[in-house]
Amino acid sequence: MNNLHVVDHPLIKHKLSIMRNKDTGPKEFRELLKEITLLLTYEAARNLPTMEVEVETPIAQTKGEMVEDKKVTIVPILRAGLGMLDGVLSLVPNASVGFLGVYRDPETLNAIEYYVKFPPLTEDHQIFILDPMLATGHSMNHAIKQVKKQGGQNITIMSLIAAPEGVNVVVSENPDVIIYTAALDNKLNSKAYIVPGLGDAGDRLYRTK
Ligand code: URA
Repeated sequence: MNNLHVVDHPLIKHKLSIMRNKDTGPKEFRELLKEITLLLTYEAARNLPTMEVEVETPIAQTKGEMVEDKKVTIVPILRAGLGMLDGVLSLVPNASVGFLGVYRDPETLNAIEYYVKFPPLTEDHQIFILDPMLATGHSMNHAIKQVKKQGGQNITIMSLIAAPEGVNVVVSENPDVIIYTAALDNKLNSKAYIVPGLGDAGDRLYRTK
């Protein structure tokens, strides 16, 4: 699948194994999620637009390139996506941030939206949608629809762990979207948790259980 990039670097595998461990506490879990997001961003940002700049070194005048980070918008899906936001912002500090609150109905597993706050989006913006767990794909598809409704077109998804079911749902409805993930796990269980996964990412980030 051309849209899917699994970034299986040894450093990412190492950090993700610590995150999967049920005994890893929220402090370490948050730190590792930020670190892995930073490493994923390095790959996912490969095609960011750059502009030519003049630079005067101590030796000579030369041309350099700088990322047009004002044309980047990051959209964390609340709440677990917040755990990835600082990782992206530390590499693309002048990006705009749009927030989208979505939860999944425990009965139907459908995405229910409860908050939207976006900066103005244009077709030349590079948009990164963040959600650590790409499970059923329903929340992500909802987020993609909302981003497109607001005028965004170039969309990259970043997740920590993806399930094949979620990837298929997203790609079949959005063949234009690129997915970066640290791992592609086996499947979803009957409660739509990723197996083996790491449990509920929001609960593990914020110790809500
Ligand atoms: N959301 C999570 O936090 N974990 C899963 O396994 C699936 C969805």
